[in-house]
Amino acid sequence: MNKIPVTLSINGEGHDLYIPPNRTLLEVLREDLSLTGTKEGCGEGACGSCTVLCSGHPIRSCLTLAAEVQGEEITTVEGLRTKDGRLDPLQQAFMDHGAVQCGFCTAGMLMSARALLMRNPEPGEEEIRKAISSNICRCTGYAKIVEAIEVAARA
Ligand code: FES
Ligand code: FES
Repeated sequence: MNKIPVTLSINGEGHDLYIPPNRTLLEVLREDLSLTGTKEGCGEGACGSCTVLCSGHPIRSCLTLAAEVQGEEITTVEGLRTKDGRLDPLQQAFMDHGAVQCGFCTAGMLMSARALLMRNPEPGEEEIRKAISSNICRCTGYAKIVEAIEVAARA
């Protein structure tokens, strides 16, 4: 297949790539840029494990063509750390409150939660549950994830 030039901004860094036009953002992140924090679960938009932020909005990277998001700022879980290497308050709260078991859903959950806190720093439980309703977790039963997001919001 012919390749096309694509320029992406990911976690504040520019990347010039030469890729097939049907390459997904998830494939670019994981396979071309080795940003493997973003996980592939279903690969068809149903589980949320591949969620990243596109200019602050959560998107499914498995359903998004890389070429579509040129000009946007993409944030992955690797971009949540502060510049001095500290964990984002959400990451710390997930660790401290038992919101991570197998961890497969965690990156996607964190990105959906970060998008929520960016638009509403003080969400109630119902808003939190709605914000993560498209992210499937098979392990935790969600209660500890909701609690961790509440704690991070207070922090
Ligand atoms: S891998 Fe993208 S939604 Fe499941
Ligand atoms: S911690 Fe295992 S799927 Fe959520």
